[in-house]
Amino acid sequence: MTNLKVAIVGCGNISRRHAEGYASTGRTTLVGVADIVEAKAQALAEKFGSTPYGDVAELLAAQDPDLVSVATPPGSHAEIAIAVLAAGKSVLLEKPPVLSLAEMDAVAAAERSSEGTVYVVFQHRHGSGAVRAAELLGRGALGIPQVAVCETLWFRPRGYFDPEWRGTWVGEGGGPTLGHGIHQIDLLLHLLGPWRTISATAVRLDRPVEFEDVSMASVIFESGAVATVINSLLSPRELSRIRIDTTGGTLEVDHVYGYSDADWSFSPAPGQDDAAKLGLDPGGRRTGDSAAEAIGADPWTASAGKDVPSNHEAQLNRLVDDLLSGDTHDTTLTNTRPTMEFVTALYASAITGRPIHRADLTAGHPFYQALHGGVPQTKISEAFTI
Ligand SMILES: NC(=O)c1ccc[n+]([C@@H]2O[C@H](COP(=O)([O-])OP(=O)(O)OC[C@H]3O[C@@H](n4cnc5c(N)ncnc54)[C@H](O)[C@@H]3O)[C@@H](O)[C@H]2O)c1
Repeated sequence: MTNLKVAIVGCGNISRRHAEGYASTGRTTLVGVADIVEAKAQALAEKFGSTPYGDVAELLAAQDPDLVSVATPPGSHAEIAIAVLAAGKSVLLEKPPVLSLAEMDAVAAAERSSEGTVYVVFQHRHGSGAVRAAELLGRGALGIPQVAVCETLWFRPRGYFDPEWRGTWVGEGGGPTLGHGIHQIDLLLHLLGPWRTISATAVRLDRPVEFEDVSMASVIFESGAVATVINSLLSPRELSRIRIDTTGGTLEVDHVYGYSDADWSFSPAPGQDDAAKLGLDPGGRRTGDSAAEAIGADPWTASAGKDVPSNHEAQLNRLVDDLLSGDTHDTTLTNTRPTMEFVTALYASAITGRPIHRADLTAGHPFYQALHGGVPQTKISEAFTI
């Protein structure tokens, strides 16, 4: 295979990032774009030299793409993904991939009987900072994670909720936990591994929404690490931050909508900088980081390479590389399920007032079908009002 044949369904704001990301690889052909609004499909097709279609069915009937980006509103992702899989093609789903674990499992079932595979856009896993952090944390070179903080403090004015579908469970599926904080949550889980228990609070302080405008969670991980997570749409100076305190130091990324290497730092714990120089983790185990030993730098500094900012281009380049070379791409439906489980548990805990264990989120769980758990809106409003 020389060029990957790609297509895009949903030609709104984010579709341009997909078209540009694919174009930047130099190894894709954009065979078609589809939108239920004809003018939007036409505009994207003209700008990127492709053919416009009215919907996914029309596109699949006319073209034979290897991979289809789904960049429609989240409520339509599952149905479109299942249609693409039924045609035997792979899918790249925008975040949030689906609105519930039930939808996620329906897409997974369609994937099992298809030749196609489902991937999810979580671009912040793919910048060079996160790639380094995951690799170094994974082999203990930065110490053992103990305490973490994950913050998505963003600002959306009241006018943001003017479109009828915004601010509703039916239209958006959930609030900033699902729609905005999910980026940092996904990165936190990618770095810290499986979570075990969540106790959460969600409140509606100001915005005209059915769900929360702020949520907060305390999380216990399988490893024994603990974290706090906050998601807000009421925070004028916007910030996206993850801080992980390990036995060896503090790893931190501080940005808003995308980071580059300069937004990451690692501050060795007092007395630990020499151990880091030797490529030993603070427990004294050899990490095998010979590059760090050779140049006398700590493993974080020694691992610096080409700066790849965390944008769509970063993930699409890796995805296209992986697909053309037959490698597995990490951000699959299976690998992103813990993120949807986390979001589900946060709502379940905030609405019921009880801690939620990941192991409890089976198909019979009341919040499996929808993030509001089928709880009447009056009860949710009560739970979310201080
Ligand atoms: N990864 C990121 O950083 C990021 C950033 C912004 C948005 N997103 C996600 O991208 C997706 C789209 O967001 P957006 O801001 O581009 O929305 P948008 O409203 O600007 O665009 C969505 C487009 O999909 C079209 N559409 C709706 N239903 C369709 C269907 N059934 N078939 C074909 N086209 C359909 C609409 O006409 C519209 O043009 C959402 O899931 C959103 O959460 C991701």
